[in-house]
Amino acid sequence: MIEPRDFVRTLATENAAFWRGRDVRIDPDAPAERRLLQIRYRMRQGVYNELRSVELIAAWIPHVREQEIRDLLPGQLDDEQRHYQLLRKRLIDLGERPDFYQPLPEWEALFDWLVACRTRPTIEKLAMFQFAGETQSCDGFETLIELARDVDGETAALYETQILPDEYRHAAIGRTALLLFADTPARQAAARAACQEMNERVFAAYCAHRARADRRG
Ligand SMILES: [Fe+2]
Ligand SMILES: [Fe+2]
Repeated sequence: MIEPRDFVRTLATENAAFWRGRDVRIDPDAPAERRLLQIRYRMRQGVYNELRSVELIAAWIPHVREQEIRDLLPGQLDDEQRHYQLLRKRLIDLGERPDFYQPLPEWEALFDWLVACRTRPTIEKLAMFQFAGETQSCDGFETLIELARDVDGETAALYETQILPDEYRHAAIGRTALLLFADTPARQAAARAACQEMNERVFAAYCAHRARADRRG
């Protein structure tokens, strides 16, 4: 059997390989004006996603029986609601009226699916959202921060100082879960399949998101 530590390292490499060139939400080569529109669209999506992350973690907590992980989730829930408040306030300061009830079908479907996954084994849930999803989020935020610096420095600083450090901690919760529980070939296979399922669904959401953002100009 592959040791959990080696398995987690391999799985992280596989996930990173899947994501190479696939975060299509922001076009690094777009002129500044267009890039700013993409960043704003992405922030509106972020307000929705952060709020639904709160709901998601709340839905999962009663189904996570393993104390080591269960103890970490309320802290994540608290972070996600703070991110929601921060992004919402930033958009309001920029003169927007963020309406998180506005349907964003691809993200709505993704979070509905994740909430419905609450009864799946802890290793699968945490492989999906914290390990695969949050790790990709961190990469996405790193890119967003770099691309926002010259067009909206204040938003870049907000992401860099008040959101990104928390997201790295959330990804680490996923790693902790895999190190603890990916200790049989069957569990390792389940974790790998869960990551693939999540990555594919998130990629589909990214593509739909970009198509909608482009239609809005
Ligand atoms: Fe967050
Ligand atoms: Fe998070």
